[in-house]
Amino acid sequence: MKKKIIQRYLSPLILSLVTIVCAIFVSCGDEGEIVTVEPPAPQQPQPEEQIPEPPPAEQMPQPEPPAALPGLPADIAGYEGWLKLNAEPIPPVAGGDPHRGTKNVYVNQTREAIAPNGEQQFPYPDGTIVVKEATRPGKDFIGLIAVMWKEAGSNPDAGDWRFEEFLRSAPDADFRLAFEGGVCTGCHSRVAATDFVFVPLE
Ligand code: HEC
Repeated sequence: MKKKIIQRYLSPLILSLVTIVCAIFVSCGDEGEIVTVEPPAPQQPQPEEQIPEPPPAEQMPQPEPPAALPGLPADIAGYEGWLKLNAEPIPPVAGGDPHRGTKNVYVNQTREAIAPNGEQQFPYPDGTIVVKEATRPGKDFIGLIAVMWKEAGSNPDAGDWRFEEFLRSAPDADFRLAFEGGVCTGCHSRVAATDFVFVPLE
């Protein structure tokens, strides 16, 4: 009899209890779900920040070096950018102009090198080049280029200066060597005290 009661009343009870427990367990299981943490993605080696390397010097666009005018020595190319000795153009000398025309004189030295403390020193350093350009009277192009090169041992009687003068008669003509040497030094010897150079640094 007792057994029957148990079977009748308890069995469904137990069954439902089991069901509830299971339900709780399942829901707990949901809550307690193991959260699988994704392993961190393997660190991609970051490409180093690319700072563009400057191209090697020989590939850099170089400003075109100035070329000497046709017929002139290559080592005076760009003389117009050198230090100018005279402040104002030198006008033609009345009654016999040795280098006929309006002139400018340039030197391949710095002001500091030839006039330290503001006072010009002589002689000029070995390797100095002095260029005089002259625009002939009534013309609008440079017709004369006179050059003095200071070369140790080249001309002991005239301060070791080598002299050459180039002329052209038209703006599109080549310069030609017209005079050199003794014809020049005779006159320039007058200014041996200033190293055979007439025009002082102004
Ligand atoms: C009759 C004298 C005389 C003769 C010859 C002469 N020069 Fe000159 N030269 C001068 C005078 C003066 C100056 C100063 C600038 C000017 O008045 O033209 C000068 C200036 C120069 C200069 C600029 C530097 C400086 O001394 O002031 C150069 C470079 C030069 N002469 C080169 C020559 C050459 C090269 C010859 C020969 C072909 C020559 N000279 C012949 C008188 C002469």
